[in-house]
Amino acid sequence: MNKPLRIGVAGLGTVGVGVVKILSERAEFLSAASGRPWKLVAVSARDASKDRGIDLTGVRWESDACALADADDIDVVVELIGGSEGVARDLVEAALSNGKHVVTANKALIARHGIALARIAEQKAVSLNYEAAVAGGIPIIKALREGLAANEISSVAGILNGTCNYILTEMEATGRDFADVLKDAQALGYAEADPSFDVGGIDAAHKLAILASLAFGQEVSFDDVEIEGIENITAADIKFASEFGYKIKLLGIATRGVGGIDQRVHPTLVPTGSPLAAVSGVFNAVAIEGDRVGQLVLEGRGAGEGPTASAVLSDIVDVARGLVMPPFIVPTDHLKAPSRANVERRSSPYYLRFNAADRAGSMAEITRALADASVSIERIVQRSEGRGKSDGRLPVVFLTHETDEGSMRMALKHLSKLEDVAGKPLVIRIEDSGSR
Ligand code: NAP
Ligand code: HSE
Repeated sequence: MNKPLRIGVAGLGTVGVGVVKILSERAEFLSAASGRPWKLVAVSARDASKDRGIDLTGVRWESDACALADADDIDVVVELIGGSEGVARDLVEAALSNGKHVVTANKALIARHGIALARIAEQKAVSLNYEAAVAGGIPIIKALREGLAANEISSVAGILNGTCNYILTEMEATGRDFADVLKDAQALGYAEADPSFDVGGIDAAHKLAILASLAFGQEVSFDDVEIEGIENITAADIKFASEFGYKIKLLGIATRGVGGIDQRVHPTLVPTGSPLAAVSGVFNAVAIEGDRVGQLVLEGRGAGEGPTASAVLSDIVDVARGLVMPPFIVPTDHLKAPSRANVERRSSPYYLRFNAADRAGSMAEITRALADASVSIERIVQRSEGRGKSDGRLPVVFLTHETDEGSMRMALKHLSKLEDVAGKPLVIRIEDSGSR
């Protein structure tokens, strides 16, 4: 009989518990699929007394997760703790250095230290697999690493954060407020330990940086991702957008630009009838443009116990089968240095929302400020509800024609000098492109 695959799991939260359940429920099939038995040897988490609803009889408990990296009876360490530093990083580094395979769902770690870790994995000829780190249950890493290897990729874009998509969908469907819906996403196990990573766009940026590296053959460069989150989107914005024929989605977009790769995460207005507008709740969708394959769209649950554990298990199957590949498709010394596109001339239509003084002539001043920055207006809507009751300011929304980023920045500068405009305008790009 072939030697068993001996597994150590660090982290028994939403994902870790899901992994242990599949390990016990599908043991026979997984053994058959990989031609060897699987054995869960040891686990680690903070609180040994917590009831996690899983049977750990006969499984060793390690109070120090890093002990899994040193254990002689473990072949693969599954890191499901999270965080780009601390225990998770120490454990993964030590496991790889000790010649153990690593499977992780930790996008923060891969986005920040993936290349350094891949170098260790390559030196030791072991796997560093991270399918669950991007887009939950969607096999997007395998698609890029294996299925699409023949293609030159020109863009990777999509909905990469389940928590944000869930929040935006619920706010639209029920009119509930942001903080209330975020609590649901946390209870469902979708959100990060620090949910500001989700709503602030950082989690989507971690994932985008990983995808961009795989798609464009350059080192992961999280610091080159422009990031805006959904914290300032209100129920009123969602309603305005709907009246204009759009939905608001948090998108991650990576494309080849002038002088380098353009990577950005931001809320975006997408046409109501477009494929991305139909992606709701915790679902993610990733669209890839390849020169041979054309456009490919993968959609599925982007967070939660089952989908994420499913992705983790697919990585363990590869290890069990003896499949060891460079973590970033090509060996790290073949990856290009990070590059950043010049985005001054990147352009799109925009949605602008702010409160403006309710007095004759204020709109004339505002439209003059926009015109002076060469920003052309497509539509203006001013709401009069609450007139006379509030501070004398009313919400106003502009949709612009196609405008480059430089002009929009100039327009915002002009608006900031007007007494009739209160606070910082909310600015959202509009994607009218048919493919999204
Ligand atoms: P979680 O529910 O917060 O679980 C984290 C686990 O790590 C807990 O079991 C915790 O122990 C354990 N832990 C924390 N500090 C530790 C330490 N110092 N030593 C040992 N164990 C420690 O997190 P999760 O949602 O499962 O996420 C785990 C990883 O998967 C993260 O990298 C996350 O980004 C990623 N991920 C999550 C999802 C998702 O939908 N949740 C999807 C994709 C990827 P206690 O239980 O004892 O407190
Ligand atoms: N917090 C992440 C999300 C988990 O909501 O998408 C999946 O990576």
